[in-house]
Amino acid sequence: MMGRSLLGIADLTATEITTLVETAQAQKADATGSHRRALGGKTLALLFDKPSLRTRVSFEQAMRRLGGEALYLSPAEVGLGVREPVKDVARVLGRYCDAIACRTFAQEILVELAAYAGVPVINALSDWEHPCQALADLVTIQEHGGARGRVLAYVGDGNNVARSLALAATSMGMHVRLASPASYALDTPSAEAASRRAADSGGSFRSLEDPREAVDGADVVYTDVWTSMGQEAEAAARRKIFAGYQLSASLLACAKRSAIVMHDLPAHRGEEITDEVIEGAQSVVFDQAENRMHAQQALLWHLLR
Ligand code: CP
Ligand code: NVA
Repeated sequence: MMGRSLLGIADLTATEITTLVETAQAQKADATGSHRRALGGKTLALLFDKPSLRTRVSFEQAMRRLGGEALYLSPAEVGLGVREPVKDVARVLGRYCDAIACRTFAQEILVELAAYAGVPVINALSDWEHPCQALADLVTIQEHGGARGRVLAYVGDGNNVARSLALAATSMGMHVRLASPASYALDTPSAEAASRRAADSGGSFRSLEDPREAVDGADVVYTDVWTSMGQEAEAAARRKIFAGYQLSASLLACAKRSAIVMHDLPAHRGEEITDEVIEGAQSVVFDQAENRMHAQQALLWHLLR
């Protein structure tokens, strides 16, 4: 994986996803290993066009833990594509830094950055995908009973988080069921790509409308916000459209008693998930948040060492 960019899960084979998850688990268990200074002298630029808690801090800490440094650039500082063209930002940052993690709106911005930077570009969330979240999610699922052959039910918007998760989880042999209102399902090409990955791994992929059918007997129940960053004007309409898709105690009761509850955070309690469920014994959301750091540390180690 050395020197490559990660713009979406399609950039990784199933074997590479497994390798990243296993590296994350191994490095997490080994606080003093040789990886701890592997990226000495290297700098990661964090180019963010949207707010963040987890992604920013977990990337900064992952770089520090590998002996490197991270440089955070806020939307106001850079004005990506506004103050100057994306391709110029890419070529300038590529002269100073060893990699760029970028959080932005259009996926095309990441594609352009990667084409011009001359250093690896990592998608730190776009409107289209959130691949680093999916890697951390798989680390978390592996820690809580494993991925292969198990049922993952995602309930809610067929958004960036759902897309990366569906592609990554089907790569690792999971049976993925995605329940969304009709016009908010995962797009057909992504669903087909997830089905192809599932066919190779022994998993499966299904798009459904009924959340109860998706959650029935599931091992993992996952949800994300109904209104993503950049969609704020649609928030009221979305609250109505998604009203039947709340991850509540009664919906969770359809899953296995041993099922874990996942959410990438930030959560809107009372919308996509109830306070009772996110604070409940089945919730692993803070393990999941912690694993962002371990998964990204593994990724940086494979791309940059
Ligand atoms: N899950 C996630 O990406 O969180 P942030 O938006 O806080 O980075
Ligand atoms: N789907 C959400 C994820 C936030 C981490 C968003 O894009 O805002």
